[in-house]
This record gives sequence, structure tokens and C-alpha cells, in this order.
Amino acid sequence: MCVSDRSYFPTEPDIELTGEAQAALHERAAAVTREEFGNKVFVRAVVEVSNFCRENCAYCGMRRDNKQLARYRANHEQIAEMLIQHRPAAVTDINIQTGEDPVAVREVVLPLIQTLRRETNLGISVCLGTFAREIYAELKVAGASIYIMKFESADAARYTALEAPGTLDERVRHIRQLAADGWNVSSGFIVGLAGQTPRELLGNLRLADALPLAGCSVSPFIPGEDTPLANDLPAPFHWTLNCMAAMRLMRPDWVIPAVSALNLAGQDGYRQGLRVGANLVTINLTPEDVRGDYVIYKRDRFIMTEERVLNAIAAEGLSPSREGLAEHYRLNQSRAGLIAATA
Ligand code: 5AD
Repeated sequence: MCVSDRSYFPTEPDIELTGEAQAALHERAAAVTREEFGNKVFVRAVVEVSNFCRENCAYCGMRRDNKQLARYRANHEQIAEMLIQHRPAAVTDINIQTGEDPVAVREVVLPLIQTLRRETNLGISVCLGTFAREIYAELKVAGASIYIMKFESADAARYTALEAPGTLDERVRHIRQLAADGWNVSSGFIVGLAGQTPRELLGNLRLADALPLAGCSVSPFIPGEDTPLANDLPAPFHWTLNCMAAMRLMRPDWVIPAVSALNLAGQDGYRQGLRVGANLVTINLTPEDVRGDYVIYKRDRFIMTEERVLNAIAAEGLSPSREGLAEHYRLNQSRAGLIAATA
């Protein structure tokens, strides 16, 4: 019998499972992951090239109202040199990430993508925020193929209360448009915000399922320093893991990252994420002098270095995928095209 079941959708009690029933859910998710991807995980690097942000998300330390933060924009030539000459051997893909900063897109991100496209065969992901369609097109022409745009919460009222970018409807429209324009889109949501119920989390999974995504993340809420949510409680860790496992069972083929916040959310959190369905790890290559100012959660971020990432996957009996993420999506698309053409 095939352990994956495309018709799977979790129930509210699934989100709160503990003990043996939880272990069984996690084992099913792990089995589905191994069936789809073997013992390979995708290894990408992230560079956080600007922490300027025009948005004001209540959960995020880079929000524009945070005046405590020293803001920086990296130099694209320096980042390119580092990535071309000194990237870890296991890295197949690079994720270029910023606060929502149009200046950085023009001055840092676009030239960096062009250089990387010319000098390497790295797959290129971007996580930059919402922009006009022409900007997305420029990024794609330059050589990026994966756009990360999280919807954060599928509850429209909560989305607005969180001061997340624009409205939920707009965010969803951007996600759909990116996919329609040929991007591989990965999204994500936050688990464990104050007052969030298992029912609401099912709503997040339902929206993710309805969107044209190639992957999706589950981020445990971490009360961010110098944010309006600084005094809220952190996410229940078992809810986070149960959402990841449920997502894996719902979408066996998705690429699900182990986010670095897992380490702040639970003991050995990153490795636990790899045990419940995550199949993408990220080595942080943001220059050390500015890393501390890229405060999504808190200053003390537990940076996922090459050594920590490779140790975590080895300890779980996994190994780096030689096939890159962008390449994987490209091959999947051409397979899907072939099937459509011969149907
Ligand atoms: N807790 C959990 N996730 C967060 N993010 C930002 N701040 C927090 C937080 N306090 C996530 C959001 C955002 C991404 C960059 O990090 O999903 O899109």
C-alpha cells in the first residue's frame, strides 16, 4: 500500500496531538517524505541583503516602526564574490532575501542575480515582498525562478490586525499572479499567534492547499524583540510540528523547509522538523557584520551555519541532494508538460 494519500486533510484534534498518536502522525509524514524524496534534502544558502523595510508587520523585528535597528544594504559585488568563491560545496541554490526594500531590489538584488546567473549554475530564489508586475518580470529575466511569498495567516481579520503587507486578498492575488507568470512559488504561515486555534490553523492549511504552490513553510511564532508582540507567548511547539506533518501528508510532493526558528521553538527543533516532513535546509551566508541586524525574530538568532546544517541532516540519516531545487521544479514542470502533451 502506498503511504501517501492525496485526499488527506487533517482534523482539529490532529493539530493538538501528543504522545503515541502524535508519534504515529509524524512517522507517516516521515514515510511519505522518504517515499517521495528518498533520504535527500535540498540544501540552499540564504543571503539577507537588506533589512530596510517599508512594511510594518507586528510580528517582525524589521518593521519600519522599529527605530532600534541599524539598517543596512549589502554591496552586491561583495556578496557575489563570496558566493562565487566561497560557498559551501553542498549548496545548489541561493535565496536572496530582504525587507521590503525597492532600492535594494534595484541596486543589490538585480545585479546580484545577473552576476550569479552568468558565473554559476545556482538556482535562484527570491523573498523580497510585494511589487508591481514589471519588477517581478525583471527579476525573472535576470534569472530567478522561485518566489517566496508567505501569506502568514489565512484569516483576513488577523492578517489586517497583524499589519501584514496590504490585505490578505492582495497577497493571495500576488501569489496567483506570480505562479501564472511562470514562477515556482513557495508560501508559508505562522503558527501559534495569540488566540490562534487549531481550527484557524486548518484554515491556513486549506488556503495553502488551494494556492498554486510548489512549497510551503510553517514558522513557529517567536515573540520578536522591539515589536508589539514582544510579550506574547511563543508557539506551542507540538502544534508547529503537527502542522508540518499534516502539510506533508496533504502534499507529498511539496518542498517544505526546516525553518531556523524551529531551533528557538523547541529542543533540537531543527532536527525534529526534518523528522516530520521537512526536505529543505538553509545555510545562512549573510555577512557576519550585518547578520545581527536582520532581526526577523530576535537578535540572538541561532545562525544555521554550514556545519550546523550538515550535522543536523547527517544526524537524521539524510544527505544533500545533488539535484538543485530550481532544477527539481524545472524537471517536474517538463514532466508535467510531457504528460499533458501525451494525454
Ligand atoms: N515569528 C515567526 N515567524 C516570523 N516571521 C517573521 N517574524 C516572525 C516571528 N516573530 C516569518 C514570517 C516572515 C518571515 C520572513 O519570517 O513568516 O514572512
